[in-house]
Amino acid sequence: MTYAAGIIGVGCYLPEKILTNQDLEKMVDTSDAWITERTGIKTRHIAARSQATSDLACEAALKALADAKTKPEEIDMIIVATETPDYKYPSTACLLQAKLGAKNAACFDLSAGCSGFVYGLGIGSQSIVSGLYKKILLVGAETLSRITDWTDRNTCVLFGDGAGAAVLGRVDEGYGLLSLDLGSDGSGGDHLIQPAGGSRNPATHETVDAHGHTIHMDGQDVFKFAARKMPSACKKVMQRAGITIKDVSLLVPHQANMRIIDNAIARLGIDREKVWINIDKHGNMSAACVPVCLTEAQEAGRLKKGDNVILVAFGAGLTWAGALVKWAK
Ligand code: ACO
Repeated sequence: MTYAAGIIGVGCYLPEKILTNQDLEKMVDTSDAWITERTGIKTRHIAARSQATSDLACEAALKALADAKTKPEEIDMIIVATETPDYKYPSTACLLQAKLGAKNAACFDLSAGCSGFVYGLGIGSQSIVSGLYKKILLVGAETLSRITDWTDRNTCVLFGDGAGAAVLGRVDEGYGLLSLDLGSDGSGGDHLIQPAGGSRNPATHETVDAHGHTIHMDGQDVFKFAARKMPSACKKVMQRAGITIKDVSLLVPHQANMRIIDNAIARLGIDREKVWINIDKHGNMSAACVPVCLTEAQEAGRLKKGDNVILVAFGAGLTWAGALVKWAK
């Protein structure tokens, strides 16, 4: 019997605490009007001090496993896409394995910035199609609030915490992942970087004083990259699968800036109602954005068996990732 690989369950988790633009007005020289107009963000969730990335990941994973009617022991591999792991090592995927009791899983973290979940979908699906594994838990989880410079108005208004998860498994041929476009441009690495804490600039008093352990971003360069790559990745995955934008039921874009999403909508000529948007509520949750969107879309009844769904993201690296999925549930 032949089969393909697809998403067979999804789930997400957002921490309770909500930080509003009005709250940020009290912290830095900004305004609700500026943030809303320039980014589209109104609120974002912030993890409790007791919560690390693996805790958020675990909540989302439990929901995805329940949705996929899958027991933790059935999982052959856990991939956690994150830029905010609990520790440098062990991997957050290993920590998650222990929390879930997924004792039969191989585990690793994936670093591809905000593109991480879609990268993981590509890697995970190949492992299923090859016959190596039957079920994979793929998580995008972030506690970006821990690496945000809360004195820098250029970045602190953009990010939020959250987690989304998917169980990947065998689906009927013709469903699941139909095409993929993964890419990187490492020459743009400096545009989006946490400069200290690695082997280049290990942690010292000086790196802490210089705010080296927080997100540094050249917003306009990243914006230009995203404005180019989001539409081109969507076009490539449609072309590779032999479909056009009219055949797409839902576009799930990375939620970094409403103007970047609007640009993609215009360049692709897709109806706005077919684009899942939650940036106003959650801000940019990096690798968690796409799976949180997917979960919300499923809960809203917007994903039906046979729907063509495009997932598209860009992020640190710089990286980009597009995937066309025929919804199999
Ligand atoms: N409140 C008020 N004013 C602000 C704020 C703020 N929060 N932030 C910046 N400004 C000011 C700037 O200082 C500047 O003032 P000046 O003209 O006096 O110098 C002015 O607003 C315009 O700044 P720009 O940087 O030109 O603003 P822009 O319209 O480019 O928007 C933004 C900035 C929102 C960061 C945009 O460039 C962007 O979204 N870039 C992409 C970001 C992105 O996608 N990042 C991915 C991160 S993913 C990850 O890995 C976590």
